[in-house]
Order: sequence, then structure tokens, then C-alpha cells
Amino acid sequence: MRIIKTKNYDDMSQKASAQIMAQVNLKPNAVLGLATGSTPIGTYKCIVESFKNGFVDFSEIKTVNLDEYVGLDGNNDQSYRYFMNDNLFNHVNIDKNNTNVPNGMASDTAVEADRYEDLIEEIGGVDMQVLGMGLNGHIGFNEPTKIFDKRTREVDLAPSTIEANARFFASMDDVPKTALSMGISTIMKARKILLLVSGSAKADILYQACYGDITPDVPASILQLHPDVTVIADEDALATIAKNVK
Ligand code: GLP
Repeated sequence: MRIIKTKNYDDMSQKASAQIMAQVNLKPNAVLGLATGSTPIGTYKCIVESFKNGFVDFSEIKTVNLDEYVGLDGNNDQSYRYFMNDNLFNHVNIDKNNTNVPNGMASDTAVEADRYEDLIEEIGGVDMQVLGMGLNGHIGFNEPTKIFDKRTREVDLAPSTIEANARFFASMDDVPKTALSMGISTIMKARKILLLVSGSAKADILYQACYGDITPDVPASILQLHPDVTVIADEDALATIAKNVK
């Protein structure tokens, strides 16, 4: 695990976008695994800016997103498909047919989960997976559990996640209670992983994820076992690590 310390959110966003663009320039037909949430918004902004300046080409890039709320279609402005179009895909030269988000409107979520898992394999697996992390250490929507969840599937959202994400919805009742999420094994199969973390609220959980026990109670802790993880985090998010790791 490599940890890159950044001054603040903007610095984190710039450094993360540089890593993603390096991947795209190195392998123009790469498969990028992408994340939503507030953390990567600045990263996507930097990428769009660089695209406008001619520094990066997405024409052959394929993407797979980590997760999607069950019951929201892509036109719903809270869906993760909408988020991706709005923050990235609409502003770069990516072929939307090459962008994939689980279908939250699938009539059978188990069939959709299998289709998604197969699709990731068919397109050659993920070259670089971008991750954010929830306040409870979740990655994708893999919430703390007793055993690591493996494959893409429908998951119940933890009450704390529903609460945390309510800020994007009209009310708490409007937040979907389940989501389709890549599993932990799906994420761990990515050849490279980029974990982005910002803000003091995540300092303790980031310490546990990077230096604590590897436990399904802190889903991100599994990343300690991956051979190629880069954590890009700002000073605030790294505060507990700075205090405890010499
Ligand atoms: C959401 C998403 C995750 C994201 C996380 C953190 O629920 N499913 O992919 O990483 O929570 O969100 P934020 O970046 O807004 O703190």
C-alpha cells in the first residue's frame, strides 16, 4: 500500500486525476473502474479540464462503476448513472456504450448482478479501480459484515449510510434501502486500486483500514492484501495515521 499525502481536497483531486490520466495514456483501451460519492467529484473535474486542453483521449476507454441504487433509473438525478454522465461522461469523448453502471431498474437483481460480473470479465477485467470510502469503511456498497461479501449482488444499506447519503435526497425516506454493488472479490481483482479519502471525519477509519486488523467489520481493510493500492488522501484524512504511525 502506497500512501500519497496531499495538502487538501483540491490537491488530492489533482493528484488522483493525474494517476487516472497516466493509466489512460499508458493503455488507451483500458478498463477503468469508477466510483461515485462526493470524494471523486473534484477528480472528475480535473480530468474534464485536462480533456478540454487536449491532454487525454477516452475514445477507446471502457468503464464499469462500482454500484447503483436499486429502484432508481438513469434519469433520476440521484442515480449513479446520472452522476457519472453529469460529472464525467457528458464532458469527455467517451462512447457511452462503453460505460457500464449496474441497472438499478432490473426486474431480477440477481440476474443483473451475474450479468454485471460476467461483463467485467468479458471486457478483460479492471485495469484501475477508483474507490472512495464510507464513514464506516465501506467500499462500493460493501457494508461492514461478518464475512467479506464476494460477488456483485443486491445489498442492504447500513442505517448510517442511508443517513450519510440522505443529504443528496429530499428526505431520508427517499434514500433507497438497497443497492447493487460489486463485491469485495470483484474489487480485489482489479489490477490497480486508487483509494481517495478526504476530510477529518474519515481519519480514524482510514487508520483502521490501512493499519488495523483485516476484518469484514472494516471492509476497506481488505485492501491491505492487494498488491497494488495507492491511497491518495489529504492531511485531514491522514491525521490519525500521522499520530500513530512513525
Ligand atoms: C457512497 C458510495 C461509495 C462512496 C462512499 C463515500 O455511499 N457507494 O462508493 O465511496 O459512499 O461517499 P463520499 O465520498 O460522499 O464520502
